[in-house]
Amino acid sequence: MRIALGSDHAGFEQKQMLKEYLANELGHEVIDLGPDTDDRVDYPDFGEKVGRCVASGDADRGVCVCGTGIGIAVAADKVAGVRASSITTPEFADLFRRHNDGNVIGLSGRFVDPEVNREIVKVFLTSEFEGGRHAGRVEKIMQLDTTGKVEAADQPGGEPAAC
Ligand code: RB5
Repeated sequence: MRIALGSDHAGFEQKQMLKEYLANELGHEVIDLGPDTDDRVDYPDFGEKVGRCVASGDADRGVCVCGTGIGIAVAADKVAGVRASSITTPEFADLFRRHNDGNVIGLSGRFVDPEVNREIVKVFLTSEFEGGRHAGRVEKIMQLDTTGKVEAADQPGGEPAAC
């Protein structure tokens, strides 16, 4: 698989470790979108780069690292076509793939050990989307990208409340 990789300064060290792991141990093609040093940068810049790389089809999946994994995942998820989440356990990586068809993960460079992040990445790249009852739900998520709302015709009780 082609994997887009990015971080901010707080995730830089683990990004470099994951780059090596992805290429040398798992055998993936890594597209390193930066940064190239641990100088202070803003995580939305790199979340966007990873998100766009996945949304365009240039990469199959994206892996982002910041201090918590939260901010960079939130930024990536703003790119249409991306389903990104902060992930802190292998179990959540598995469910994010099986239920949500997630295509970008945000990892914590400050609060999660490299060994755990390596396992998260491995699971994220091997678990498959289950489809079935989850497919319609993911489709509704994607409607938010394309029309700005969930088409709620099949919801029990009709349209959801305004807020
Ligand atoms: C940077 O200090 C930190 O805010 C960032 O890495 C990330 O944790 C944001 O969500």
